[in-house]
Amino acid sequence: MFDILITGGTLPDGSVADIGIKGDRIADVGQLGAAQARETIQASGDLVSPPFVDPHFHMDAVLSYGLPRVNASGTLLEGISLWGELRDMTTVAEMVERAISYCDWAASLGLLHIRSHVDTTPDHLRTVEAMLEVKKKVAPYIDLQLVAFPQDGLYRSKTGRENLIRALDMGVDVVGGIPHFERTMDDGRLSVRDVCEIAEKRGLRVDLHCDETDDPLSRHVETLAYEVQRLGLQGRAAGSHLTSMHSMDNYYVSKLLPLMAEAGLAAIPNPLINITLQGRHDTFPKRRGLTRVKEMQAHGITVGWGQDCVRDPWYSLGTGDMLDVAFMGLHVAQMTHPAEMRRCFDMVTAENARILGLEDYGLKPGCKASLVILDAGDTVEALRLRPARLAVIAKGKVISRSPRGDASLSISGRPAQVRRRHKV
Ligand code: FE2
Repeated sequence: MFDILITGGTLPDGSVADIGIKGDRIADVGQLGAAQARETIQASGDLVSPPFVDPHFHMDAVLSYGLPRVNASGTLLEGISLWGELRDMTTVAEMVERAISYCDWAASLGLLHIRSHVDTTPDHLRTVEAMLEVKKKVAPYIDLQLVAFPQDGLYRSKTGRENLIRALDMGVDVVGGIPHFERTMDDGRLSVRDVCEIAEKRGLRVDLHCDETDDPLSRHVETLAYEVQRLGLQGRAAGSHLTSMHSMDNYYVSKLLPLMAEAGLAAIPNPLINITLQGRHDTFPKRRGLTRVKEMQAHGITVGWGQDCVRDPWYSLGTGDMLDVAFMGLHVAQMTHPAEMRRCFDMVTAENARILGLEDYGLKPGCKASLVILDAGDTVEALRLRPARLAVIAKGKVISRSPRGDASLSISGRPAQVRRRHKV
């Protein structure tokens, strides 16, 4: 007897199967039609996917758009400066409330794993206090992984390094950094070495905001790849953004990508934000700023799409829907071949799970019983429609349901066929 039985779902690989859940685990996957269950959900061809995973977010700033005022220039630097004011004005309770509202949206969209950077710059560390509280509160449905992020620089801010260590001592999971924001290229290089050594000593993962600039000479990713292989952090490190790679010399990149692959360094571009913030100093042609996604993948580098921001000093929009993130990434990286589109779906699910090091993620027996049922027939259709999440199951419990988004009748009286099953 299962607690929940999902029948006839289309899995991300295109196969059709039933999924039986007992407690908080997937107990069986296959043809289970005759099995008994306390609750049966008929997927009938609907896409059943492991939950969405966001590998790059800023939960301490979420839903603060317009506070203390809007970002008039639209630049990264004005966003950092606005946030610098806001983080000292806002209370723990306000940050917790905004973050919980966001987590409720996110969960209803099937986003159940989030890696969030938390600003460790201010000496009061209310940001860290608030996010640790959020992590505890949402644990029944969202796994929140926190990164100690010295927003104003590990060295550029007087207490940057000290506060990053304090945050790790408070229980933050991952070591962050921002080498391109340090005072000099050399300080940036030293900061990368320093945070990698901290991670190695503590047995933690590393995820740096790295080269988030249009300057082709911002090459901290090279140092990151070097330190990761030197310290044996292969498979446990990620470079977020890497937008300078968009503008780098092609010969240099042909040397860089094999180094990144050798180091097992993952890349986390954030297409909604990169396409919005980068190229702001350009006239025309304006650079897109997104890093070299397909080229990294061709070298065997794991690349996951991240969201970065939802309604905060850097970005005025956003919904928590990782399909929006993948949709933008697909366009900007020109990943339009069917295999590339399917990969874009994996880049907000399984590939991101690998970057976060999630061990019991997936739809196999023994995995955590967390999944989302979408009103779409396959992963490409999910990207095209960004449809209703018919049901979201987190750790064995149905936490959200949405009605099917049936198409309205067309002029002819037939249902309009915008959706469903033009398989390639
Ligand atoms: Fe970020």
